[in-house]
Amino acid sequence: MIDMNKKETILITCGRGIVPYLRHEVESLGYPVLSAHDTGLEVQASFADTLRLNLCLRTGLHVMYLLKKFSCRGPDQLYREVGALAWEEIISPAEYLSVVSVTDTPEIKNSMFASQKVKDAVVDRIVKKQGSRPSSGPERDNVVINLFWKKDRCWLYLDTSGNKLSDRTYRKIPHSAPLQETLAAAVLFACGYDGSVPLVNPMCGSGTLAIEACLIALRRAPGLLRDNFAFMHLKNFNETDWRNLRGETAALCRKHPASRVIASDIDKQAIEIAKKNARAAGVEEMIEFHVCDFSETPVAAGNGIVILNPEYGLRLGKDKELGQVYKCIGDFFKQKCPGYTGYVFTGNLAMAKQVGLRTSRRIPFFNARIECRLLEYQLYEGR
Ligand SMILES: C[S@@+](CC[C@H](N)C(=O)[O-])C[C@H]1O[C@@H](n2cnc3c(N)ncnc32)[C@H](O)[C@@H]1O
Repeated sequence: MIDMNKKETILITCGRGIVPYLRHEVESLGYPVLSAHDTGLEVQASFADTLRLNLCLRTGLHVMYLLKKFSCRGPDQLYREVGALAWEEIISPAEYLSVVSVTDTPEIKNSMFASQKVKDAVVDRIVKKQGSRPSSGPERDNVVINLFWKKDRCWLYLDTSGNKLSDRTYRKIPHSAPLQETLAAAVLFACGYDGSVPLVNPMCGSGTLAIEACLIALRRAPGLLRDNFAFMHLKNFNETDWRNLRGETAALCRKHPASRVIASDIDKQAIEIAKKNARAAGVEEMIEFHVCDFSETPVAAGNGIVILNPEYGLRLGKDKELGQVYKCIGDFFKQKCPGYTGYVFTGNLAMAKQVGLRTSRRIPFFNARIECRLLEYQLYEGR
């Protein structure tokens, strides 16, 4: 039922504010963008292409293959429309199935009920054709079906990713307020980071920015770190094709980054965690770690990028002390980083003023629901 090579509509979702970076990535991979929304964009690509998108994208969250769109007047019609698809050709009864629904329609009160209807339609069809059924539940690491139901229109997708692509699998241990991996990659793209200049990341926490920077610098596709995607649980999955694609993608990686990556944190435990995460991502050797106050971080020679993600004070810190920290970031930039471009990523816009330097850009982002800014400072030599 799924033609591997026919071009269809693919929806790629992402966090708010990330669409411009996702668009750039998708177009660089050669896929024309059909339309863009707040939290995703649509491209024209084949099912086979979804494997490449899952493997290569740094800023996307889910790659969804559109199976069907239809008008829908209620749960019974939903059941009939979904049950009309040849699910027995897509999902084996031995698999596990999960349905995720997003509903904004007067036809139904509860999106869980919509998920239940979709699941029943799929499972009943497979039982009818094959005599047994896949199990089902909330886990997203097997087959995942997605329903969007807005007013009287429904879109039914296969989520080919399963768990979010931000889950690269290298973050083994949580530390305070880590950035989501996809957000960290988007922030680095916004800084113009491509691995050709040194990157200095004081206040590195669990190391997400430094690790994502290494993956970018090495041109290593983040999906190479994962061994599970939802597409692997579909009947059309061809392991040999997947192995070949991984091999071709891995062959494009550089062995070493062209420039230094330096990460530091005042908290010894944070650096231990960052090192473990970097080891899991295969980049521990490429990051120079230091336990020190941010102002003592060694800054590599050359016109590089220095980026800090200080606490916002909204959740973690204390306002007065934190104001002093932001002020000292300005001093650190001026005194230690001439010739660099400085960046502060923060969700506390009032606090950001304490840096006391003129911004050359203020780039909007969202960290979960918190509106953030990536503030850019040109740190001219001899300032
Ligand atoms: C918001 S967290 C950074 C999270 C990080 N981007 C990540 O993805 O894990 C802020 C970090 O700044 C560190 N920090 C706070 N004050 C510091 C200081 N004076 N010098 C260096 N690091 C500091 C904390 O230990 C914490 O790990």
